Amino acid sequence: MTTWNLNGTKHHVLICNGSSCMRKGGEEATQAIRNKVTELNLDEAVHTTRTRCNGRCKDAPVAIVYPSGDWYKQVTENVAHRIVEEHLAGGCSIKESLIYEYDQQGFVSPENSDSIEGIDKVKSNV
Ligand code: FES
Repeated sequence: MTTWNLNGTKHHVLICNGSSCMRKGGEEATQAIRNKVTELNLDEAVHTTRTRCNGRCKDAPVAIVYPSGDWYKQVTENVAHRIVEEHLAGGCSIKESLIYEYDQQGFVSPENSDSIEGIDKVKSNV
């Protein structure tokens, strides 16, 4: 059991370790993100957490960065390294790998996204 002091942490990365993500490289994505964070001396600034399913299994493996609210899909080792280098260290999200980004209205898919829309959580009455 570990209790980290997270005062001053700048980013929280939720790395999906649900069954679909684990079948498609979730462990490799987890290790690639964590190793790159350590390599770049970002351990104080970045906290990572393994999660269960985040509900976007078709995009597996998935990683989510807060507080920016960026959801990443198909996190290969290369994408994992770019998330750390370009987003967490550099402050720029990787547009082509985004499922969602967050604006004042909530999550939105980036323009020209090729991610599937998914199933509506609430059925409309039309
Ligand atoms: S198992 Fe990762 S989104 Fe479902």
